[in-house]
Amino acid sequence: MAYDNIRLEKQGAIATLTIDRPKALNALNTQTFLEMESALLSLGTDTRVLIVTGGGEKAFVAGADIAEMATITSSQAREFSALGQRVMGLLEQRPFPTIAAVNGFALGGGCELALACDLIYASEKAKLGVPETTLGVIPGFGGTQRLTRVVGKMRAKELVFTGSHVTAAQAKEYGLVLDVLPPEKLMEHCLAVAGKLIKNGPLALAQAKRVIEFGADQDLRSANELESQGFGVLFGSEDQREGMKAFLEKRPAAFAGK
Ligand code: CAA
Repeated sequence: MAYDNIRLEKQGAIATLTIDRPKALNALNTQTFLEMESALLSLGTDTRVLIVTGGGEKAFVAGADIAEMATITSSQAREFSALGQRVMGLLEQRPFPTIAAVNGFALGGGCELALACDLIYASEKAKLGVPETTLGVIPGFGGTQRLTRVVGKMRAKELVFTGSHVTAAQAKEYGLVLDVLPPEKLMEHCLAVAGKLIKNGPLALAQAKRVIEFGADQDLRSANELESQGFGVLFGSEDQREGMKAFLEKRPAAFAGK
């Protein structure tokens, strides 16, 4: 599929998905979601980390496309929300770590996109927020739920009720962003983190992600059971044998993802 609104680039095991409609501050419309879905599905086991970022100077993603949403009906809005949730869910469930490089405005659907990634790093000039109530609606791509799980119920209510944009530094204080970097260092930092992750066992990363993600929605006993299953599954893999053998032989492990 040829893409108009996104770019998908690969440097070895690290893929970068850039939402690239800078004239609309990378707003998410139906076409962009379909392109994102196709790109995410195209990534195979040779991809071990995905970085998600925004094209142009100003925005990561400034939200769902308001021009497209302005005249849709209630049932079309439910479909649009379902499409957005499907793509965010797909991103969240990819079996490799995903990193949001928040290079500018991450508002509404943009904040929701960052929240669907495993790790969020932001540039000093980024502004984050969920301003949907200022438009008379609410977040529709999983934001009310993922934001609440990340920053807690009361802060999520404050952010959703006020619709305020917060600085990257404030977002870090809320636990919404891991680290804040000078703009020119953001991608370098994300690539360095990705570089560390690709040295580790891909099957282990996939299990760790799955267990943390699904376990977070379960009671502790069931979540620990999920962990035991994931732990057990990894034994007998080539990666487990290679990782432990490499340790004993005092050399770096070469994981094949098998
Ligand atoms: N949808 C469509 N177009 C958008 C957009 C969006 N979310 N955000 C920005 N744009 C467009 C603007 O309309 C403008 O287009 P024109 O040049 O054709 O007029 C262009 O991008 C540049 O934007 P601004 O001129 O507004 O730039 P600015 O620097 O003055 O302001 C901004 C930047 C504060 C991010 C402002 O653009 C803004 O507030 N954008 C909307 C943010 C928002 O409300 N996001 C939530 C959307 S709702 C949502 O996401 C729902 C959901 O969860 C399902």
